[in-house]
Amino acid sequence: MQYSRTREHQLSNSDRSRPANKSAHLGKAEDIPAALRNGGKARSDHPKSMVASKQLPLGGIAIRLGILLAGGAAFTFATTPRDSRTTPTSIASTGNISEPGSQSTTTDNVLNHLPYLEAPDAELVSIGGGYRLRKAAATKFQSMIAAARSNGVNITTISAFRSVEDQKRLFFGVGAERGQQPTKRAEVSAPPKYSEHHTGYAIDVGDSAVPATNLNQNFDTTPAYKWLKANAATYSFELSFPKDNIQKVSYEPWHWRFVGDINSLETFYKAHNLKSK
Ligand code: DAL
Ligand code: ZN
Repeated sequence: MQYSRTREHQLSNSDRSRPANKSAHLGKAEDIPAALRNGGKARSDHPKSMVASKQLPLGGIAIRLGILLAGGAAFTFATTPRDSRTTPTSIASTGNISEPGSQSTTTDNVLNHLPYLEAPDAELVSIGGGYRLRKAAATKFQSMIAAARSNGVNITTISAFRSVEDQKRLFFGVGAERGQQPTKRAEVSAPPKYSEHHTGYAIDVGDSAVPATNLNQNFDTTPAYKWLKANAATYSFELSFPKDNIQKVSYEPWHWRFVGDINSLETFYKAHNLKSK
């Protein structure tokens, strides 16, 4: 099966100032299974309030009141439609749940894609060709492609940092052109606010020797992919969406992410933790 994301490429960050070319080849949609997610679950544990209620002199009354309040809150949560539940501030500001004692732990993925914040502009640096990554990722990425080049492998950049606005065009604009419902669109494209590309740590790459494989799953047959498979870890890059990934996102052999410092590691692995809560 051939897979193409030519259209996504055309709307990637390097092209964002250009008008969309309506006659461009739109490529085929990848057919991955529909999203299966464990939606937000209320946490029942709240150690601080449990300890406090045991220490009150009127312990029995306090416990009864506590049970009544907790019951009411649980009922409200259970009867609130998922889409209207509020994103905790800690997720909104970091992409992760980090507030100690926070009772609200929605998983907050949308159609299998996890929430990510846009990298601050000041953190982004050019990697050439109009593409940008976070500083730490950019340095390692450039060392990596230089090493590949010295081994006779030419890795090209297809996309890097993408803003939420860029992703809106990719998700809604291309989705509308293709007549795709959001559930279908999300099989091949992350919704805005849910793309790893927002973080400034993710990159899509190709092999200049075989450009026909760009954003196709058969990119994994190229010298560039084979070189990356053997060497990317040395530069702290990993494949985000290998075959049969737990996130159930379409196999993307061209999409790599930097996990070589604390912030990048937390960004991706705390986001994944949300799924298991
Ligand atoms: N291309 C992957 C799904 C992303 O944007 O996160
Ligand atoms: Zn990508």
